Amino acid sequence: MTKICVIGLGYIGLPTSALFANEGYDVVGVDINEHVVEQVNQGSIHIEEPGLDDMVAQAVKSGRLSASTKPVAADYFIIAVPTPVHDDHSANTDFVVKATESIAPVLQKGNTVIVESTIPPRTISDIVAPALKSAGFDAATNDVYLAHCPERVIPGNIVHELKYNHRIVGGFTPEAMEKAAAIYKQSVEGDVRETEAVVAEMSKLMENTFRDVNIALANELSKVADHLNIDASDVIDMANMHPRVNILQPGPGVGGHCIPVDPYFIIEKAKDTTPLMQTARDINDSMPSYVLDKMKAMIGDVQNPTVALLGLTYKGNTSDMRESPALQLIERMQADAPNMTFKCHDPFVAAETDAFPHDLYSLDDALNGADLAVVLADHQSFKDLTGDTFTSQMQSPVVFDTRNIYKQLDGVTVHSLTNLVDTHKQGVQ
Ligand SMILES: NC(=O)c1ccc[n+]([C@@H]2O[C@H](COP(=O)([O-])OP(=O)(O)OC[C@H]3O[C@@H](n4cnc5c(N)ncnc54)[C@H](O)[C@@H]3O)[C@@H](O)[C@H]2O)c1
Repeated sequence: MTKICVIGLGYIGLPTSALFANEGYDVVGVDINEHVVEQVNQGSIHIEEPGLDDMVAQAVKSGRLSASTKPVAADYFIIAVPTPVHDDHSANTDFVVKATESIAPVLQKGNTVIVESTIPPRTISDIVAPALKSAGFDAATNDVYLAHCPERVIPGNIVHELKYNHRIVGGFTPEAMEKAAAIYKQSVEGDVRETEAVVAEMSKLMENTFRDVNIALANELSKVADHLNIDASDVIDMANMHPRVNILQPGPGVGGHCIPVDPYFIIEKAKDTTPLMQTARDINDSMPSYVLDKMKAMIGDVQNPTVALLGLTYKGNTSDMRESPALQLIERMQADAPNMTFKCHDPFVAAETDAFPHDLYSLDDALNGADLAVVLADHQSFKDLTGDTFTSQMQSPVVFDTRNIYKQLDGVTVHSLTNLVDTHKQGVQ
C-alpha cells in the first residue's frame, strides 16, 4: 500500500492526512506539537473546522491514519508547515527548511516530496532542492521527485473544498510533476493541472494578490465616495450591473494569514515591478487608521468616550483572529486615541488569550454606556440584531457599520463605511 507522511498537522496538513487516509492510503501525520499528535491518535482534533472531527475519527478508526512527532519512511512526503512573514514582510521559509531537513533521515531514493505550504516564487528550486541536495538527494536528476502543490481551501469549508477544488501541481522536473499529480488525481474530484514548480508557486500567490488588489480598489472607492459625499454601496450596486464588473465590498482592513501575507512573497522577489501590489497592500493596511479617523469624527467632542468593538475575528462566523483588522484598530486606538476606552465583544472569541490580551464583554455589557458601537466582523448573529439591542444599552445609540450589514436599525443612527453621507449632513466631520 502506498504510504504518505504528512509534515504539519494544522488547518491544511490534518484534513489532507485524513483525506488521503479515507481514500485508502496508509498515512502518518507528523507534528512537532505533542498535544496535536496525542489528540489525533485519539481520533480527535485540535482545530475548529466543520466536518473535520468526523473525517479524522473515521480515518484513525480505520487504522489508516496515525500521528507521530517524528517523520517515518514513506513513498510520499507532504510538507504543510507555516510560512509566515518576518516583521519586514520578507517570507519566513524556516519552517519549510526544518521540515525538509527532518525527513532527510528517513528519505529514500525514488520517494516524492511535495510542498503544500504557500511559498515565494523559486522556493522549490532555490531553497528546498538545495536542502535536499545537502541531505544527499539530487532532485534535478530525480533522486527524489520534488513538487509544489499549493492549497486554496477556505477555513469553514475545508472538508468540501479539499476534495472538490481544482489543484495545481508544479514539478521541479517533468517526472516529479507526474509522480506528484498521480496521488491528487486519485483522491480529488477537481481537475489536476500540471505545470512547473515556479508557475505553481506564482499561481497560488497571484490568487490572493488578485483578491488583495480588488479589495483595495473597493476600499479606495469608499474613501473617494466619502470625499464626494455619495453612497459607495449605490456605486458598487450599479457598476456591478455591468456583466463583466464585480466590485467587492469595502471593509475595515484585510485579515487572515493568506491575503495580507501572500502578496509580499511576490513583492520581495520583484520590488521594482510591483507598484500596484505594493499600493494595494498600503491601501488595505491604511483602513484601520481610516476607520479610527471616522470614529473620532462620529464621537465628536465627547471627552473620554467609550467605544464598543463588536467582532474581533478577521471575517464573519469564524474564531480566527490572525492578522485581524480589529487587532490593528486596537493598536491604532492605543497609540492615537488613548482617551478612548474600548470594550470588546465577539461571540466566537470566548476568552482573553496571548494573541488577544484584552478584556472581553458580553454584547450587552460592551454596549452598556458606550458612545459608539463599531461593527468590525459580519457574524450572522450581528446581522440578526435589531435596534432594541442598541437602544436598550446606549443612551444615544450610534453604530459604525464597517461591514455594510445594516440597512437600518430602529432608533439607532447607523453610519456605514460605504455611506458616510449622513455624517456630513450632521456636520460630524
Ligand atoms: N489555513 C489555510 O486556510 C491555508 C490555505 C491555503 C494555504 N495555506 C498554507 O498552508 C501552510 C500551512 O498552513 P496551516 O494553516 O495548516 O498552518 P497551521 O499553523 O494551522 O499548522 C501548521 C502545523 O505545522 C506544525 N509544524 C511546524 N513546523 C513543523 C515541523 N518542522 N515538523 C512538523 N510539524 C511542524 C505546527 O506545529 C502546526 O501544527 C502555510 O504555508 C499556509 O500559508 C493555508
